Amino acid sequence: MRVAITVMLLFPLLWAGDNVTAQEKGATAPRYEKRADHDPNGIGKFYMGREIAHVMGYLGAPWLERDTREEEERLTLLVKSLKLKPGDIVADIGAGSGVISVLMAEQILPNGYVIGVDVQDEMLLRLQDNARQKGVSNIVPIKGSQKAPSLAPRSVDLAIMVDVYHEFEFPYEMMQEISRAMKPGGRIVLVEYRMEDPTVPIKLVHKMSQRQAKAEVEQPEFNMKWTETIDVLPRQHILVFTKQNEPKLTP
Ligand SMILES: C[S@@+](CC[C@H](N)C(=O)[O-])C[C@H]1O[C@@H](n2cnc3c(N)ncnc32)[C@H](O)[C@@H]1O
Repeated sequence: MRVAITVMLLFPLLWAGDNVTAQEKGATAPRYEKRADHDPNGIGKFYMGREIAHVMGYLGAPWLERDTREEEERLTLLVKSLKLKPGDIVADIGAGSGVISVLMAEQILPNGYVIGVDVQDEMLLRLQDNARQKGVSNIVPIKGSQKAPSLAPRSVDLAIMVDVYHEFEFPYEMMQEISRAMKPGGRIVLVEYRMEDPTVPIKLVHKMSQRQAKAEVEQPEFNMKWTETIDVLPRQHILVFTKQNEPKLTP
């Protein structure tokens, strides 16, 4: 009996560590959260308060290539507003079947090229077919992973994600890698359906607000600063973030 009482008295002392708050231990909150109660169009994984959408499978490629897309999304106006220059190195991340890659590739000739990154082999094959059919030869297809697009550090002038960022399974890790791949002064462009506009006919988890996108991309460790939102498209924001100079280290 006495032993039992002694153990009971000592127990809270032995386990005092559990009473220390996570903050006192120096632990940080987990980056991602799984929730059982979620939108059926999302994967049940949350990042900075928003749910991540399902990745569009390769069977969705005909939708990306639909005839009405130019009228609905004004892709030529999108590409024009990027003000690409001859010789630019452009990464089209989540390039899909290459609709945007092909449009951009023509703008950066001579010497410039588009790196078309995707996680699905079927999309990359279709991208190559589409480029060949259109006579475009300055697109380099690259297979990325869910966490990294396989781009060399400080090598890219412009990285664009059209209707892609909201479906990254690991947005933090992707943005860490993409920001690392940017040349100083390089631009990251997110093209996302406007969450702020309820008349945009797209499922909620496939939309993003400007506020949310800025909070996610402008994290100090990425060294990216929002510089403009080009609001010329009928349904999407064009959010532009610019790579800042690396902070100078003192000896
Ligand atoms: C909705 S489609 C958009 C395709 C293209 N940007 C367009 O607008 O025509 C999204 C694409 O992003 C790709 N994707 C999703 N997560 C990715 C990741 N972590 N890295 C590279 N591509 C990814 C998908 O495989 C899919 O092809």
